[in-house]
Amino acid sequence: MPYSSQAVAKPYFIVAIVLFCVQILFGLMMGVQYVIGDFLFPLIPFNIARLVHTTLLIIWLLFGFMGAAYFIVPAESKRELHNPKLAKILFWIFLSASILTILGYLLISYATLAKITGNHFWPTMGREFMEHPTIIKICIIGVAGGFLYNIAMTIFQGRKTVINMVLLTGFIGLVVLFLLTLYNPDNLVVSKYYWWWSIHLWLKGVWEFIMVAILAFILMKVTGVERDVVEKWLYVIIVIIVMSGLIGTGQHYYWIGTPEYWQWWGSIFSALEPLPFFLMTVFAFNMYNRRRHVHPNQAATLWVLGTTVMAFLGAGILGFLHTLAPINYYTHGTQITAAHSHLAFYGAYVMIVLSMISYAMPILRGRINNSNRSQVVEMWSFWLMTIGMIFMALFISAAGILQVYLQRVSEIPIPFMVVQENISLFYKLRALAGLIFFLGLIVYIISFFLKYEENDESSS
Ligand code: HEM
Ligand code: HEM
Repeated sequence: MPYSSQAVAKPYFIVAIVLFCVQILFGLMMGVQYVIGDFLFPLIPFNIARLVHTTLLIIWLLFGFMGAAYFIVPAESKRELHNPKLAKILFWIFLSASILTILGYLLISYATLAKITGNHFWPTMGREFMEHPTIIKICIIGVAGGFLYNIAMTIFQGRKTVINMVLLTGFIGLVVLFLLTLYNPDNLVVSKYYWWWSIHLWLKGVWEFIMVAILAFILMKVTGVERDVVEKWLYVIIVIIVMSGLIGTGQHYYWIGTPEYWQWWGSIFSALEPLPFFLMTVFAFNMYNRRRHVHPNQAATLWVLGTTVMAFLGAGILGFLHTLAPINYYTHGTQITAAHSHLAFYGAYVMIVLSMISYAMPILRGRINNSNRSQVVEMWSFWLMTIGMIFMALFISAAGILQVYLQRVSEIPIPFMVVQENISLFYKLRALAGLIFFLGLIVYIISFFLKYEENDESSS
């Protein structure tokens, strides 16, 4: 490892994986609840399981992103991290805040949590993906501010590369947009309007910056392609992210009480949103074909190529399928949305974090690559998780198509709950696919514990 301060990334990656496991356990719980309605009721009702599942998703991805930054920024800046101690302190604060939040969701009612955390003084709770108590939001902003300061100082005092700049811009955007979670107007339309600024501009804006910067860094390392080639791709992709993503926010303004012109603006610009994901796929395979060496970490290479394909399928293709206003009129808020959100989140953000961990973890443990056996096991985990997720998305898409037809398109529309009864077979199959996904995750974790022999190492 060229810079000792990169080691601060390790606990971030470990916590990310542990929380990922818990997130998936809650996903499985809900998968079963869809089939057996009162499974675990009243201990963990569906709404609480869902809350924990989505909250943990965001939290562990943030741990993964921060770990990635602590690994990449010193390497790119060619200097030690500005303040490794601060990174360690922030780690513990963020971890404690996250655990407290999840325990709060699980142990007391949401209303009590709101009351004891003083939500009435500054009401910010109750909106999807940003349900955290106000005090926790403020704490996260503090952690994010300290993190930004640390990586920005490292970059400004060291070598300034395009990868570092794109990464930093992504993180600045992430923090600035998170500030909006503190703004919760009484008017539901206005509240939803700004909610999407955080959620949409994160997922189809600044998080994409972070994703493409990590992608570029790993690709450069595993293929050995020159920096200037990688940078040209980066410029093109980020321009298209901004061009499509900003006004593309309109794809969420069709039916929330905003003016009708959003149906045009939203449809036109969001139709362009798959483009950056398509370009990332072309970028990755182009770099791979031009590779100047075969990197011994084949597992990381597989993850990094895989993430671009899966992100294009989940975000690009499944996203495009329901983004035009006349189609979204029927599909809005159905299982089609859930199919898309699973495949997109997994393909883009879960897989890029796993790519980073796969590339960085062996280095953080003092070698270039894991043993061949451990890489084979890791590749098995890649296929189990990826195929599990593809089938989950396929079954839920099928459920969604039937749901839309029976409930909203057919001559005699059927009530919501009757439709749910009719499509229950797909929920059973989804639970099965979820189990395969979980198995893949267990295999992934096992791959870290397989023995490493000296002669397993090859040089790049
Ligand atoms: C990396 C893997 C996963 C990611 C990224 C993920 C992500 C998400 C997201 C973003 C939502 C909110 C969906 C929306 O509002 O449209 C959600 C809900 C849900 N997830 Fe997952 N999830 C994952 C794995 C799983 C697994 C393995 C299962 C198990 C079957 C599962 C079952 C569910 C269920 C049942 C819901 C609730 C859907 C509803 O409200 O109808 N998830 N998940
Ligand atoms: C990695 C990128 C992406 C992620 C992680 C993602 C995730 C999500 C999630 C979680 C939701 C549900 C939000 C809610 O709870 O209401 C959603 C909704 C939606 N997404 Fe994406 N998305 C991505 C990219 C895209 C792209 C590129 C498009 C279009 C081309 C798109 C089109 C949509 C649409 C139209 C909805 C609204 C669905 C509805 O009306 O019910 N998404 N997305």
